[in-house]
Amino acid sequence: MMSRSLIFFLLLATCSIAFASDPSPLQDFCVADSKSPVFVNGVVCKDAKLVVADDFLYRGLNIMGNTSNDVGSNVTAVTVAELPGLNTLGISLVRIDYAQGGINAPHTHPRATEILTVIEGSLLVGFVTSNPENRLITKVLEKGDVFVFPQGLIHFQKNIGYGYALAIAGLSSQNPGVITIANAVFGSDPDIAEDVLAKAFQVDVKVVEQIQSKF
Ligand SMILES: *[C@@H]1O[C@H](CO)[C@@H](O)[C@H](O)[C@H]1NC(C)=O
Ligand SMILES: *[C@@H]1O[C@H](CO)[C@@H](O)[C@H](O)[C@H]1NC(C)=O
Repeated sequence: MMSRSLIFFLLLATCSIAFASDPSPLQDFCVADSKSPVFVNGVVCKDAKLVVADDFLYRGLNIMGNTSNDVGSNVTAVTVAELPGLNTLGISLVRIDYAQGGINAPHTHPRATEILTVIEGSLLVGFVTSNPENRLITKVLEKGDVFVFPQGLIHFQKNIGYGYALAIAGLSSQNPGVITIANAVFGSDPDIAEDVLAKAFQVDVKVVEQIQSKF
């Protein structure tokens, strides 16, 4: 007869599977077939017999992104769109380059937790907990430090060192998604009505128009 604690453990194990953000794979691999016209939750599998080693390979993460932009950073993503072998595996990778003083603006990944490590330079990082506390959890990271941004929470990084900075991060989804707060709120298409944003941010409509014009 099963002990009560064993039954409890089995229940827990079942729950943790059900709560995983990306579904677990049901076969060794399911290389994304981007040409398939079928819509599923994820991407249709390529015929396993036609799969080749290159389906599991991405080359070029040694190449620096161009940080000459308004925020002074550049994210090079390796998700299922760039690496078809990631399909159904619940994981992806990014390279983030930062110019001196550059930021990776406040954003959230709707489908992933992110674990980041600093390869070069110093970063000020942080995330904000959900309502009503909205507590800012923040830290200065040096080369070799590892920090985790829990799934769905708004987070950011800033290069506070004297030169260039580089970070690599893993994300717990093949397609983590990104919602950059400023762009999504002030640069949506079509615009969110100005009076809505004026009230939400407790500023004059003119201020909202000014911010909207930048996105
Ligand atoms: C990031 O860098 C790539 C490669 O240099 C460039 O094509 C892309 O436009 C850059 N993205 C941004 C947002 O600056
Ligand atoms: C980086 O982007 C800027 C702005 O788009 C562009 O002027 C510059 O040539 C780019 N640099 C490289 C190395 O591609």
